[in-house]
Amino acid sequence: MKQRALLLYSGGLDTSVMIKWLQEEMDFDVVTLTLDVGQEKNDLEAIAKKAEKLGAVSTITEDVKQKFAREFVSAGILNDGMYQDRYPLSTSLARPLMALEAVQMAEIHGCDTVVHGSTGKGNDQVRFEISIKALNENLNVIAPVRDMNMNREEETEYARSHGIEIPYGGKYSVDENLWGRSVEGSSIEHPQEAVPYDAYRWVLPPEKAASVPENISIQFHSGLPVELNGKPSELTNMIAELNVKGGKNGIGAIDMIEDRLVGIKSHEFYECPAAMIIITAHKYLESLVLNKKESQLKKHMDQTFSEMVYNGLWYDPAMEHIMHFQKSVNSLINGKVKLKLYRGNIVPMGVESDNSLYDISKSTYGVGQTFDQSKSPGFIYVFGSQTMATIKGRKKLEREITINE
Ligand code: ARG
Repeated sequence: MKQRALLLYSGGLDTSVMIKWLQEEMDFDVVTLTLDVGQEKNDLEAIAKKAEKLGAVSTITEDVKQKFAREFVSAGILNDGMYQDRYPLSTSLARPLMALEAVQMAEIHGCDTVVHGSTGKGNDQVRFEISIKALNENLNVIAPVRDMNMNREEETEYARSHGIEIPYGGKYSVDENLWGRSVEGSSIEHPQEAVPYDAYRWVLPPEKAASVPENISIQFHSGLPVELNGKPSELTNMIAELNVKGGKNGIGAIDMIEDRLVGIKSHEFYECPAAMIIITAHKYLESLVLNKKESQLKKHMDQTFSEMVYNGLWYDPAMEHIMHFQKSVNSLINGKVKLKLYRGNIVPMGVESDNSLYDISKSTYGVGQTFDQSKSPGFIYVFGSQTMATIKGRKKLEREITINE
């Protein structure tokens, strides 16, 4: 019996070429797995048909949107996940889920090899391979695009000579899921130029955005958004809705120079309207509810989480400890945040929580204040004592040096 390979199949040129290549050059039987993580072009049936036509012995398609939202995006929200403070990790968070599905399907369908379509220059190869191996170290992992080192022209030629339909992919390299859209390549490779508007799909540029502001409210429970504008909303639906609302109001376009794990600097463009809105609201509510030490500790955890997710370490055991901390601290994050969406801006319009630490009787300059200001001079004396002592000491030293000279 021939060996079987499970291929993570998107229906695009790279992975279509791979179906043929794995059969012809590697003598594999190919099982394809296509996942719906909320990408726009998700005619899963047509993709499966295409795989069949190219000789796949079995084609699997799965809608994993809810699993993605509940287990991966929700962790992104609890952790305010942002790589280099700007990128909400949309592509990065989907990879460990895809690896998990691939491993499970490989085991069910008797495949000893998992194949993915990443190149050798990006972060995704790292995420797939570490995740797959962490879940089942006996599986082989191969990445033909990287390992064959075929360029786009060679691939197109291979496709032509093997009767593979060449999909119109546009000029950019795009990865999409419900948490965001990543766009690379073509003129985006030149950071000295503005990202052209034809790279935008979800977000209107500010000058074309709605001219009337849109007010929204988000209710959080244990750190997760549960209601939008007063109506309960399941996370997948809320994200879809906020992607539309945000996009219409020019929110969520991110232009960044990014440091990839593989040491390359790259110019990336992202569209993540829902992620930007939800994380902004979540952080605002946190600032009302957490004390200063809790916030500092959380920021540290948030950054470690983001770095680990970006670097493909979702399945590292340290992640479990981070999640315990985050669940504990997020159990306090209950309340409502009101926001105004307007031409690329997310403006806070009020925040409230039963766990609020804000005490107007302490902070007010008006009547009814309870803060005993007479205690402040003593506090300042003690707090500043070391600074004062250091200044005095250094001045004395300076005088001595001048006298000795
Ligand atoms: N730089 C991002 C990341 O590493 C996005 C990569 C997405 N890939 C793409 N073909 N656009 O998570």
